[in-house]
Amino acid sequence: LKIAVFASGSGSNFQALVESLRASNAPAAEIALLVCDKPQAKVAERAERLSVPAFLFSPKNYPSREAYEKEIVAKLEEAGIGLIVLAGYMRLVTDTLVAPYYGRMINIHPAILPSFPGLNAIGQALEHGVKVTGATVHFVDGGMDSGPIIAQRVVEVREEDTEDSLAKRIQAVEHELLPQSVRLIAEGRVSIDKRKVNVRLGD
Ligand code: GRF
Repeated sequence: LKIAVFASGSGSNFQALVESLRASNAPAAEIALLVCDKPQAKVAERAERLSVPAFLFSPKNYPSREAYEKEIVAKLEEAGIGLIVLAGYMRLVTDTLVAPYYGRMINIHPAILPSFPGLNAIGQALEHGVKVTGATVHFVDGGMDSGPIIAQRVVEVREEDTEDSLAKRIQAVEHELLPQSVRLIAEGRVSIDKRKVNVRLGD
């Protein structure tokens, strides 16, 4: 299974995924492409260091979102990509991308969805005063963090937490949850039944 990761920022999830898939030689799954809308982002450096091919683009050089999404689809097809992982990709994806990849595009979000979708989920959770939050991996359906949920893990909020301290613990969880989810998909254990995702464990 050839996988493309879309990211805009630091790319710690990108790196965790590359390293985890390389370490487990089990199912044939590899990160074959990074798609990044911020050519200066740290994730682009990580891709270079890890020898992962990258498509770096600047949205402002295109007349519309549709125009760059069409180009992305062409790159994905050229590379034979079968799964897209959004990991800190800070742009909405539209039907140009979602329609051809529905059921083959996942996202990781730093909260227990459907709580705290959108930007600054960790700040939202602190602001709300919840006692637990966490991370969610879900299929992308064109809404904002709204698609069918594949996996979630909870993180306790501590009295003394700041956004930074809480983000650190959520990220540590993400770095396990995302590779686990990708492996389950690569092994063909994940299926969507309308709103619900079934995960077949064991055997
Ligand atoms: C992660 O917390 C992810 O949940 C969110 O964006 C962050 C990306 O972090 N969608 P990184 O770039 O992988 O370090």
